[in-house]
Amino acid sequence: MYAILGISRFGHLHQRIITAKVKTDVMTEFKCVCASMLLLVSVSLHAEQEDVLNPTVYWTAELQKLVAGANARNADALTGKCSKCHGETGISDEADTPNIAAQNRYYTFKQLKHYQDVKPRDDRTMHRRVKKLSDQEMADLAAWYSMQVPAPAQDVPEPSTGTIKLVRQGDTERDLKACMHCHGAHGEGAPLDTPALAGQQIEYFVETAVAFRELGRADDIYRRMCAVSGELADEEIRGLAEYYAGLGPKPPEH
Ligand code: HEC
Ligand code: HEC
Repeated sequence: MYAILGISRFGHLHQRIITAKVKTDVMTEFKCVCASMLLLVSVSLHAEQEDVLNPTVYWTAELQKLVAGANARNADALTGKCSKCHGETGISDEADTPNIAAQNRYYTFKQLKHYQDVKPRDDRTMHRRVKKLSDQEMADLAAWYSMQVPAPAQDVPEPSTGTIKLVRQGDTERDLKACMHCHGAHGEGAPLDTPALAGQQIEYFVETAVAFRELGRADDIYRRMCAVSGELADEEIRGLAEYYAGLGPKPPEH
């Protein structure tokens, strides 16, 4: 009897254990399903975000060769599409339209390609101008503009000590590298595709730096500028834009 009771108790207990186990299994399974759904959602969100932000230009040896060997003369027939906004030789009249004269050709090529591919740099005005161009034509345009006379220094207020510190030393507290570390001591840019900033238009500079900060522009493969801009306040960006607008072309080497 006891034995039967014991068995039945045991059976009951066993039953409860089994039920509990089934419940746990169901819960675990449910949790697993939820977790995988969440994972899926986050993976797809991540993928979507990556898709939006990923650059499409990768500097393969072949692509570098195309840009290095571009023929600026062939761009003569193409610059007519650009001069209305960027000026005859890449120096614009508008503060919100970038100067592109004397710019690093790899940088310019990459921007044109990214406007063409839309997602890395989404600008309808520029997309319309480049959507039908071939890689060769964009490389020729980039070479042509890189050979023009750089924009002269603009008249700007005296830079603050804070601005000069950001340019020359950065800010260790915010883990900010000096701008000149990447953009050069005279804002002349650097290989492979770090742009020159000297003489750049102020409003354009501010808008694009803010776009990096808000991740509206994230076409830099390592997101270097997004990291930098993410740490900068509005007034710091304006101070830096004025500082660089006030720099003339790089003085000749001695
Ligand atoms: C209707 C005016 C307009 C025309 C025409 C135009 N652009 Fe632009 N371009 C702009 C504006 C405005 C921007 C800034 C867009 C942004 O904020 O991304 C720009 C950006 C650029 C940039 C990025 C510069 C940088 O410093 O990152 C390049 C390079 C450029 N244009 C080259 C060209 C070339 C080459 C052509 C001709 C094929 C052309 N543009 C035609 C208005 C124009
Ligand atoms: C770690 C390297 C690095 C540092 C430090 C850096 N930059 Fe940049 N910056 C870049 C690169 C690379 C690009 C080009 C991004 C791309 O490919 O679109 C860029 C682009 C820019 C542009 C856009 C230029 C254009 O014509 O559209 C501005 C403006 C700019 N940087 C300002 C600054 C300022 C101001 C600082 C200092 C506070 C700074 N950068 C520090 C690497 C750097």
